[in-house]
Amino acid sequence: MKIGILTSGGDAPGINATIRGVGKTAINHYGMEVVGIQNGFSGLLYEDAVELTNSSLSEILHLGGTILGTAREKSFRKMITSPNDKDKKQIKAAYDELGLDCLVCIGGNGTQRTTYMLHKLGLNVIGIPKTIDNDVFGTDITFGFDTAVNIATEAIDRLHSTAISHRRVMVIELMGHHVGWITLYAGMAGGADIILLPEFGYNMDIVLNHITRRMEMGRAYSIVAVGEGVEVPNKEQPARYLTREIERMTGFESRETVLGYIQRGGSPSPYDRILGTQLGGHAARLIFEKKFGRMVAKIGNEITDVSLSEVAGKLRAVTPDTPLVVQGKQMGVSFGV
Ligand code: F6P
Repeated sequence: MKIGILTSGGDAPGINATIRGVGKTAINHYGMEVVGIQNGFSGLLYEDAVELTNSSLSEILHLGGTILGTAREKSFRKMITSPNDKDKKQIKAAYDELGLDCLVCIGGNGTQRTTYMLHKLGLNVIGIPKTIDNDVFGTDITFGFDTAVNIATEAIDRLHSTAISHRRVMVIELMGHHVGWITLYAGMAGGADIILLPEFGYNMDIVLNHITRRMEMGRAYSIVAVGEGVEVPNKEQPARYLTREIERMTGFESRETVLGYIQRGGSPSPYDRILGTQLGGHAARLIFEKKFGRMVAKIGNEITDVSLSEVAGKLRAVTPDTPLVVQGKQMGVSFGV
């Protein structure tokens, strides 16, 4: 069999471990031929592929980013997400021209939706979930999340010293445009006093009261972790808006930090390397067994797979009964609602 692997959407630590997991298992255990499709779905359309071998898959396990390149596919989005008959022919022709028996698509929600669309066009596909945001439906965890939480937690740890020494409110904005998993996990791991998530929104009075009450109790500082997707007036950056308003309304000196792409870059954690390796291996197995149209997943402690039809177009969000939210509330952390 000949398989193609592509990566699409934002990069995440652990992609290369995953490419290696699929590729080395496919080559060494199943005797398959493997090609890497460059720069996401556009590489499929342009038939831009390179052979992947044991040697080209070596020394990439620890690397951040993706050796295959990736793209948000803006110029191809319409063609890929709602193809007309001509588009469909072009996509199928590219797949056939490359001589593929299966295409493995590594990406987040958008990628899984596109992968499902390709499946409906009759292509043999397997999806592998990837995003630091951890919001892919159908899996308990995506690789990249653990690394991002480690980085974000270290950043919060480092804010404590300035917060305490200067008796300030320190606001840190963390990634997750639709969901607040990184903010929740790093906020709890870093001991944030207030955690604001896009899923919950926030009530400014509750945030201000919490900070003021802490000051009155002799806790002369506060750490606020806010998700980048939290809506604030005039589409301002959440950290900037909150910092200014907290200082204006409480009189407490406040500072903001926006961590940004630091969370997405660099070497994956051991957890993410193992997760990518296991998901990659499972993808190769599914291909060998001709179980197409599936997304590999980790559910509980099990590496498994789910139908792309159950995943496509859905989002995995934090809810009020998420155990870590319940735990945080029981310990006096404010979620601003
Ligand atoms: O990969 C997901 C994510 O990290 C989001 O949290 C963030 O909003 C987005 O990527 C931004 O990425 P880009 O600028 O590459 O579109």
